[in-house]
Amino acid sequence: MAQPAVQPLSQGATLSERRRFWRDAFGAVRAETQRRVATLSDEDQIVQSMPDASPAKWHRAHVTWFFEQFLVVPNDPSYAPFDERFPFLFNSYYVAAGPRHARPQRGLITRPDGAEVTAYRAHVEAAVERLIETIADDRADEFFRVLEIGLHHEQQHQELLLTDILHAFAQNPTLPAYDPLWRMPRRPLAQGGYAELPAGIHKVGHAGDGYCFDNELPRHDTLIQPVRIARQLVSNAEWLEFMSDGAYEKPALWLSDGWTAVQTEGWQAPGHWQRRDDQWHVMTLSGSQPVDPAAPVCHINYYEADAFARWAGKHLPTEFEWEVAARAGLLPDAFGFVWQWTRSAYLPYPGYKAAEGALGEYNGKFMVSQMVLRGSSVATPAGHERVSYRNFFYPPARWQFTGLRLADYP
Ligand SMILES: [Fe+2]
Repeated sequence: MAQPAVQPLSQGATLSERRRFWRDAFGAVRAETQRRVATLSDEDQIVQSMPDASPAKWHRAHVTWFFEQFLVVPNDPSYAPFDERFPFLFNSYYVAAGPRHARPQRGLITRPDGAEVTAYRAHVEAAVERLIETIADDRADEFFRVLEIGLHHEQQHQELLLTDILHAFAQNPTLPAYDPLWRMPRRPLAQGGYAELPAGIHKVGHAGDGYCFDNELPRHDTLIQPVRIARQLVSNAEWLEFMSDGAYEKPALWLSDGWTAVQTEGWQAPGHWQRRDDQWHVMTLSGSQPVDPAAPVCHINYYEADAFARWAGKHLPTEFEWEVAARAGLLPDAFGFVWQWTRSAYLPYPGYKAAEGALGEYNGKFMVSQMVLRGSSVATPAGHERVSYRNFFYPPARWQFTGLRLADYP
């Protein structure tokens, strides 16, 4: 997804250069959010199709609340809130930031309407832009640090905006198109098969000066056993083969929780797939399309990825095997197609410590019962991906753009 490029900030930039850089970066990210909702009607923007998904209007307001709560209020004593009731409506999960509306009922918030949320965005944007120009020298480092978190946070919600509206549109019998021209990009032509990883001790975790979330640190050593990793993502053609071999009917292929879910949820194919006219179709951002055998399989959950690997006589890689392979340039389709499930539980790295205060709730408190995904997807905003990036979801989740690649052990 294209996004206006902001020139990188050079080492040793002056405060006025930094102000200009952050003003441009802030403007670009905020504009991208609005670009992504430009084709949505007011009605599209209030629907919540399931508790995990949020309305587009809520996303637009919540990312704004984040700047208001964590950046504007602490730095501008003269700030007048747009509406005192909004923090309750648009706080997501920050307990230290106060009480909040129940997540599954976000779709019931028909007021404020879309225009009021647009005005709320403008009100907070003006306050942020004022602070970017006026923040005192001795407070600038901390101010820009939190501003940067807010931008990456908004980019995460830009991806959710698309996955959540796709889920909503997939519930609509008319299967509307978000963007009639949308297509999954073609993957680079690459040799298939498996690449061997150099066994031994490797560094993993974020390195360098660029941005990362706290869950990508501390950088540390990990031992990689002899392993080969698939150069390419698993395709729809391979998934169709799995299905025609009785994928969803053979309990021996599934983890116990996965098999229970197959039966209670009635899964017979990946998420958003429909059988029509004797052919499999998939709901995409351009509406329902015939399943493309060459495209990577998408909208599968951890249980499905694990079952496929078992069926194939292979494994899912660990997140560290994935990272070592991606750093070595062995995975030409690592980014920009589908997030890839790993078999790593989402856990803190050795010595990880969440920040004090409400922003410490960003990642750390979710480090149980979820699995790590690596790479990025077609819905990830440009420039948001990183080789050390750790996405995480609960095993049954499959409304994101999620797929897999395999690993093999000698
Ligand atoms: Fe959020």
